[in-house]
Amino acid sequence: METKNIGLRDITVADTKISHIDGKKGKLIYRGFDVLDLTKNSNFEETCYILLHDHLPTQKEFEEFKRKIRDSRQIASQMQKNMGNWRKDAEPMDVLQAFVAALAGYYNEKGTAKEISHQRAINLIAKVPTIVASWDRIRNSKEPIQPDSSLSHAANFLYMLKGEKPDKELERIFDVCLILHADHTFNASTFAAREVASTRAHMYSAVSAAVGALSGELHGGANFEVMKMLLDIKNENNVEEWVTNRLKNGDRVMGMGHAVYKTVDPRSTVLKELSKTLAKKTQMPWYDITKNIEDSTVRYMKKEKKKEIFPNVDLYSASVYYMLGIPMDLNTPIFAVSRVAGWSAHVIEERFAEAAPKPMLYRPKAVYVGKYDGPQGCAYIPIDKRK
Ligand code: ACO
Repeated sequence: METKNIGLRDITVADTKISHIDGKKGKLIYRGFDVLDLTKNSNFEETCYILLHDHLPTQKEFEEFKRKIRDSRQIASQMQKNMGNWRKDAEPMDVLQAFVAALAGYYNEKGTAKEISHQRAINLIAKVPTIVASWDRIRNSKEPIQPDSSLSHAANFLYMLKGEKPDKELERIFDVCLILHADHTFNASTFAAREVASTRAHMYSAVSAAVGALSGELHGGANFEVMKMLLDIKNENNVEEWVTNRLKNGDRVMGMGHAVYKTVDPRSTVLKELSKTLAKKTQMPWYDITKNIEDSTVRYMKKEKKKEIFPNVDLYSASVYYMLGIPMDLNTPIFAVSRVAGWSAHVIEERFAEAAPKPMLYRPKAVYVGKYDGPQGCAYIPIDKRK
């Protein structure tokens, strides 16, 4: 018998109230709210509140939530000192994964298990940006910049990274990027977080596993690969040939295709507009090149493979981050800066969901297709008797 469900594609493993993708209509919903509505009317901090609490905050709840996040942004100076011991060329996602896990060694939250999980969620949302920005400063032999509690989440991150406060337009563009990446149902990293949480391991442990899963190029790592592709292509005239060669070789075009959306990913529509706006502002070619990659890939796949393909969230986010002046190997850590909100909400749901069916320890089966022991297979031979 062979395994029928490689990659768990058709397997439903849990009920969730956190987010929903309608892959046919191209809709993404957070706790009942259309993500496109949130990008127009909300902001990242409020989106975090909605994901964690399942309702829109009152003014008072929101002020309190924002205060908690802003007060938790700083990381222990010892953590920054320890970062100084890492190789300067260490991958930012490796640094992030290690320091997310290390938070358990620096902070000792008190309360019931549920209260601790909520405090840790706040800590993670607040501190992941500081870890990412601190590492970028430290690897470049610069002093980390302390968070500024007068700034929004988006503006504060750009400030800690670059040392200057962004203008309102750049702040809003980055804020929208954060909203768009905040959750996406049972993607690989969220499933990793929930799988670890199902063992009753704690929030930091679950989220550090999620960071590891996000680092892979078929998941969050794709936006880094997209930027490498753009720099390799260099100008619009090279796109068609580059894309055709790649697809003829059986390679994938990063930023295209999705396991769930079989139509346009709504996030890519918003990011496409942001990329266009930034290209106008910066006079850079990256929007035009990306648009050409999209068109060439769609054309090739339709003609040669009879397959419809659409851009995913990574295709246009790569150029958006690049034009915001963010180093390209921070594309995936920035994904984590946002997605940590979703991971935290999922860990809490995994651990404390009250409605049936309650989550339980994940333990899938595998079909063993290896050799058997005993007369039909392998009998142990002492090392000195082996040929
Ligand atoms: N380039 C070329 N061919 C592709 C691409 C692509 N980007 N995406 C899908 N295909 C082809 C596959 O080769 C496959 O063809 P085959 O059946 O002849 O082997 C077929 O289309 C499979 O299509 P789907 O079933 O729609 O996609 P699947 O679920 O297998 O893969 C995935 C989804 C992994 C995201 C894929 O589209 C891919 O590798 N894309 C590039 C990497 C990427 O951008 N990842 C980011 C995803 S979004 C995120 O994680 C944040």
